[in-house]
Amino acid sequence: MRLEPLHDRFAVVVHDVDLRAVRLYPEIRAAFEEHSLLLFRGQQLDDESHTRLAKLFGPLENREQMAGHDDSFKVSTVSNVESDGSLTPEEALRHLDQQANMLWHTDSTFLPTPALVNLLMATVVPSTGGQTEFVSTRAAFDDAPGELQALLRHSFGIHQLTHSRNQVDPRLINLRHVSRWPDRAWRFVWPNPVNGREAIYTASHAYTVDGMPTDEGAAFVADLLTRCTKPLYRYTHEWTVGDVLIWDERAVLHRGRPWPYDEPRTLKSICCSATAADGLTAVRGGP
Ligand code: OGA
Ligand code: MN
Repeated sequence: MRLEPLHDRFAVVVHDVDLRAVRLYPEIRAAFEEHSLLLFRGQQLDDESHTRLAKLFGPLENREQMAGHDDSFKVSTVSNVESDGSLTPEEALRHLDQQANMLWHTDSTFLPTPALVNLLMATVVPSTGGQTEFVSTRAAFDDAPGELQALLRHSFGIHQLTHSRNQVDPRLINLRHVSRWPDRAWRFVWPNPVNGREAIYTASHAYTVDGMPTDEGAAFVADLLTRCTKPLYRYTHEWTVGDVLIWDERAVLHRGRPWPYDEPRTLKSICCSATAADGLTAVRGGP
């Protein structure tokens, strides 16, 4: 396994690994802890091998089960292709819901347990656009003034899915899968338990700060997101079919970019939930 940097602050390409063979997991996991974003090219994961790989990182995220339903796990498809093969119309709520992926975010901060990792693979890519962008919030934390670092270590963001969806289209907040999650509070700093590195933990789902007047808190989280997403911290991934990106939700923010919606784009995604071993206990707040 050979690593090559993609950015000077985080992110590497991992060469010479077939992700269907999982014997290199300890090395992959070490690179994940260290570099936050891993790119593997030319992969051929089907749902079964994708799921087998994801399971090594932690419990598979199953939102239906978290909401109290008895559904079995399914690999998520991030796509504008409908089951009958047609393309999702731009005015469809499903299209608008996926547009919310284009706001800077961390996956699943609105769930009772947030994600540790997303393993995302491209199966259909458009002729132009449709990139996924990442920023290192570990780099943003390191560069923040000491006073802000101290404040972040002791403050909690309040997250709710309706907040990010409302920014795209207010009709989205009435959808059952959007409105069913109550507020969640997460500390603004997630210390990595393996190497002690701290990273800013926030998302477009965060709408205020615990204990602050809502408006003041909203301004604080907006400024924090601007600070984290400066171009200097950013890596933009241009997808090729067979690319797999594996990222550390504790240490990066990401967003999708637009593409011509008369072209198909399909990514397969599996998130694993964070556990106590990943430092979850240190970031969990009230209410
Ligand atoms: C995701 C996501 C962005 C994209 O799958 O969690 O945010 O580029 N995807 O589709
Ligand atoms: Mn996402």
